[in-house]
Amino acid sequence: METVVSADVVEPSGSIGDVLLTEEQIQTRVAELGEAITRDYAGRAPLLICVLKGAFVFMADLARMVDLPIEFDFMAVSSYGNSTKTSGVVRIVKDLDIDLAGRDVIVVEDIIDSGLTLSYLRKNLQSRGPASLEVCALLVRAGRQTGELGLKYVGFEIPPDFVIGYGLDVGERWRNLPYLARYNPA
Ligand code: IMP
Ligand code: MG
Repeated sequence: METVVSADVVEPSGSIGDVLLTEEQIQTRVAELGEAITRDYAGRAPLLICVLKGAFVFMADLARMVDLPIEFDFMAVSSYGNSTKTSGVVRIVKDLDIDLAGRDVIVVEDIIDSGLTLSYLRKNLQSRGPASLEVCALLVRAGRQTGELGLKYVGFEIPPDFVIGYGLDVGERWRNLPYLARYNPA
């Protein structure tokens, strides 16, 4: 059930549930990830690729914890639409502007659920000839993926519940919460 609040704004009917990760927990971990990237890529200028929209908050915080001459690009893929279940189809909605040839690429993801989006992205980006390709995911949902994910940087493993906040949404809402919460469907 959805409530129409104006001609073009549809409110999801669920609500914010328990807090899973506080703002402080997230910021502490993001700082650690930034330090690890700074160490691992010393002397290089990695290109951070933000997978829109969910990873924009994470990438903004992470980037400010990396003490290197990093560059940024943005890509949007869609696999969910407005539902909380995967459609199983991944497509590029917005492609990169920067050529990846010879670059040290770090893909910044919000959450790895089935791993479908990531395996598609990895193949797609690898074919563009980067010098290296690693993934930094804020969240990994435990026990959902089948194959080896090869994630170099992971913020937190989380339980099966659907989550909102810190970039993650349901129906485009709640991305601006500074913490991560369970989603309470109505
Ligand atoms: P995957 O392809 O199944 O790994 O799905 C990954 C994408 O689904 C993420 O990048 C998110 O955009 C979205 N997603 C998965 N789980 C959640 C969630 O709990 N809250 C919000 N978005 C989610
Ligand atoms: Mg995403």
